[in-house]
Amino acid sequence: AAAPNGCPVSAGGAAFNPFEGAYMQAPAEYLRWAREQEPVFWSPQLGYWVVTRYEDVKAVFRDNILFSPSVALEKITPATPEVAQILEGYGYAMRRTMVNEDEPDHMARRRLLTDAFLPERLMDYEPTVRALARQYMDRFIDQGRADLVAEMFYEIPLNIALKFLGVPDEGAEQLRQFAVAHTLNTWGRPTPQEQLEIADNVGKFWQVAQKILADMMAQPDGEGWMYESIRQHHRHPDIVTASYLQSMMMAILAAAHETTSNATANAFMTLLTHRKAWESICANPALIPNAVEECLRVAGSIIAWRRMATADTTVGGVAIPQGSKLLLVQASANFDTRHFENPDEVDLYRENAVEHLTFGYGAHQCMGKNIGRMQMRVFLEEFVRRLPHIHLVEGQQFEFLPNTSFRGPAQLWVQWDPAQNPERVRP
Ligand code: HEM
Repeated sequence: AAAPNGCPVSAGGAAFNPFEGAYMQAPAEYLRWAREQEPVFWSPQLGYWVVTRYEDVKAVFRDNILFSPSVALEKITPATPEVAQILEGYGYAMRRTMVNEDEPDHMARRRLLTDAFLPERLMDYEPTVRALARQYMDRFIDQGRADLVAEMFYEIPLNIALKFLGVPDEGAEQLRQFAVAHTLNTWGRPTPQEQLEIADNVGKFWQVAQKILADMMAQPDGEGWMYESIRQHHRHPDIVTASYLQSMMMAILAAAHETTSNATANAFMTLLTHRKAWESICANPALIPNAVEECLRVAGSIIAWRRMATADTTVGGVAIPQGSKLLLVQASANFDTRHFENPDEVDLYRENAVEHLTFGYGAHQCMGKNIGRMQMRVFLEEFVRRLPHIHLVEGQQFEFLPNTSFRGPAQLWVQWDPAQNPERVRP
């Protein structure tokens, strides 16, 4: 078999399957062969070019004209006719948001909607995150054992995301089911049978999002980013379009919290597995911001993102025909020895850790990155103070949702001896 540029498909390329366990368990390790032997390869199972080295991934992110983000939210597994019909029945109309918008519309829109992300405005959320962290920890601090995802890391970022957006609490359980469906629908490879149920949940998610939007538009003087977006829509309806608001309302409900919940769970999983690093931040909490950045590099919550070539071009010396789709594997780029020295080490003193590509790069780089970082920092600060002696429950298997892009353990079990809690030992 040949790739679309005429080259033969390699054995590694033919075997690449991001929907099987090994990719999710250790995405960078899974692609080590590619970084070394075939850094840009054709994946017949995906119909994508897979880009694995740091410089190549960054170069593609950098040029969002030649490499359009329009495919970022496309279903990576095409809908069967039945699925298309179900979605249509719900009036599902996911189109352009921000992350998949082309220029010049993208920048015009991003400029109008950027104020809510200014650092001085984000500072307002920190006391709330800290208060919630303390309150949630109070519930389990004397138990000696907890699944941190279920007890804390899922709900607090959700709570903060809803506050930031100005959205009323729709119930964490329902949103969790919706977010899983959205992830599998967009980035997963469900069987035709599984797709039916997923489509049903995605359709319901769409309708809940539209109801929330309609309620907010009826009283558009509220506080939060989606209220600000509604007001900008009234001032600039051609830039912040009605279709944008509808698509964004659903997309951001998942993006603003799943990413942060997963990144937090990944960070604790990483630091508790690399016990020396955990002990270092316990001994010196000033290292926590470095730890946050290094964990985003080593175990980011978005591990791959998509672009489409708008003209014939080359990436890493490989001919890429116009219209080709590319899977940029940030998790692999973040372990590229050409950019990060000893990438397998969790190094809290790494000087260029911040150059990881977990938030993307260039014109579309994540707008919410500092909200994510702040929450991760606050959670770590509270844990090293109140539960420095936690350990991972041994022998647990981490489970991940099979998909190309969103990564975080479904559960994270930790244990400790409550008699040793610092607040009991020195109250
Ligand atoms: C875009 C990751 C948290 C809002 C992105 C992109 C990535 C990403 C990979 C695409 C970048 C690109 O195409 O170059 C993450 C991660 C997060 C996180 C890993 C947490 C650790 C958040 C939060 C919010 C948010 C909390 C909102 C409250 C956005 C928006 C965009 C975006 C609006 C679109 C930006 C644009 O296209 O101009 N994010 N994100 N993200 N993210 Fe995040």
